[in-house]
Amino acid sequence: MTENTSIIIFGASGDLSHRKLIPALFNLYLKGRLPESFRIYGAATRSWTDDDLRSTAWSSLQDQSTFRIDEAAWRIFAQKLTYRSGDFSAPDTFKRFDVELSVLENGPSNRMYYMATPPEYFLDIINGLAAAGMLEEKDAWRRVVIEKPFGSDFTSAGSLNDSIHQVMHERQVYRIDHYLGKETVQNILVARFANTIFEPVWNRNYIENVQITVAETVGVETRGKYYDKAGVIRDMFQNHLIQLLTLVAMEPTSSYKADALRDEKLKVISAIRPISAKEVGLHTVRGQYHGYRQEPNVPADSNNSTFAVVRFFIDNWRWQGVPFYIRSGKKLAEKVSEIIIQFKNPPHMIFPNHANLDASSNLLSMCLQPDEGIHLRFETKVPDTIAETRSVNMEYHYSDEFGPNALPEAYERLLLDVINGDASLFTRADQTELSWELFDPILVGWNSPAAPPLNFYEPGSWGPPESDTFLASAGHQWMQICGEHCHDPGEPE
Ligand code: BG6
Repeated sequence: MTENTSIIIFGASGDLSHRKLIPALFNLYLKGRLPESFRIYGAATRSWTDDDLRSTAWSSLQDQSTFRIDEAAWRIFAQKLTYRSGDFSAPDTFKRFDVELSVLENGPSNRMYYMATPPEYFLDIINGLAAAGMLEEKDAWRRVVIEKPFGSDFTSAGSLNDSIHQVMHERQVYRIDHYLGKETVQNILVARFANTIFEPVWNRNYIENVQITVAETVGVETRGKYYDKAGVIRDMFQNHLIQLLTLVAMEPTSSYKADALRDEKLKVISAIRPISAKEVGLHTVRGQYHGYRQEPNVPADSNNSTFAVVRFFIDNWRWQGVPFYIRSGKKLAEKVSEIIIQFKNPPHMIFPNHANLDASSNLLSMCLQPDEGIHLRFETKVPDTIAETRSVNMEYHYSDEFGPNALPEAYERLLLDVINGDASLFTRADQTELSWELFDPILVGWNSPAAPPLNFYEPGSWGPPESDTFLASAGHQWMQICGEHCHDPGEPE
């Protein structure tokens, strides 16, 4: 099959395209990982020129420290960028694109169609491509990448999947979750399954609870219109957080192949005990930051949640009884994504002075961002005491081991995987639906009399105090090692 490849970005004038996709493609180009012959064809409704696309992407790239700036290489790369405007609901648009692409391709060529548009355009584009015969794989592949949000509930995700399957095969579909492109997220499975030391204790016999936090300092910025409908559950939990949970909880697979991994993930999600709409008060906390209602395009009486904690239990042998606390929010104290595995206390303490040994002594922290790494916290004897103990951290930082710029942008890996036809890090149709099935009742419950109160919190805090009391009522507390606490072993958050 040919290596000649076209990358077509729908929604090319938007943020995602010029902040993430084009810079990631440029990085791949610099690393020599793109096919010999390739082109990037951007399309959107805005009437831009090729130069508008080129200059916007170039200035975005220069603003971000994660991308290499190489002006000479950019000048060559920029020549491969084309921009065309078009109305995605008009069938002629796609015929026009197809004719022009065929000229640029000058022979058989693979095509990656990337949906970087708001979700309301997904079906217009997919149907437009199908009607113009642009999804047919005659002498080259056709792959479609679909951004989140994939549906807004179980029913809409299901009908989106049905419509997609009418015009293409599941193997042509790449539902993207950029969290899976992060090195540290991929390393969860490596840490678990390329070592023997963790697996024996990775279960209910040794683990007290699991905490997954994705905290952000930014608010909703200019995305009020989208965010007020989505809220934190649709924006973060149904996709990124549930992916993290499955990687922590899944069983080892027999190979690192797409379907083997996806099957195991599906088993975890199927085993999560559903939280019914009536039980939301028992298992969830929700919050909204002060000032959210004054954000652009947010109604002054919005009851949308910008923060949430959800406690899940997984009904299987490995995890029975172990709470998984997952939380995420905007305008929090730090930008930090961290997974904490909190181990149980020793069954009996023989040392006389162990006052500081609380339920938090043994922790494994997977710091996903920033200051990516893994920390293991354990008790040690304080020198020159009879037997006083204290917690210390054993630390691994990616930057110390692999250098400061070793971690590629998540989109680099994911775009390359699409070109290589590796769907391991993409979400299969059944997982999107199952995941919505888990969160739909929570959203229904939050709109019912059973809803927990909407607690307000100060920007720059760790969410409403109810988030702490919720854990405290089960004898737990939020722990943090990653981020500003990195060198501060003994402290709870
Ligand atoms: C996106 C959400 O999927 O993820 C945003 O829509 C959020 O609201 C972003 O800010 C967080 O991604 P990251 O990679 O910065 O943690």
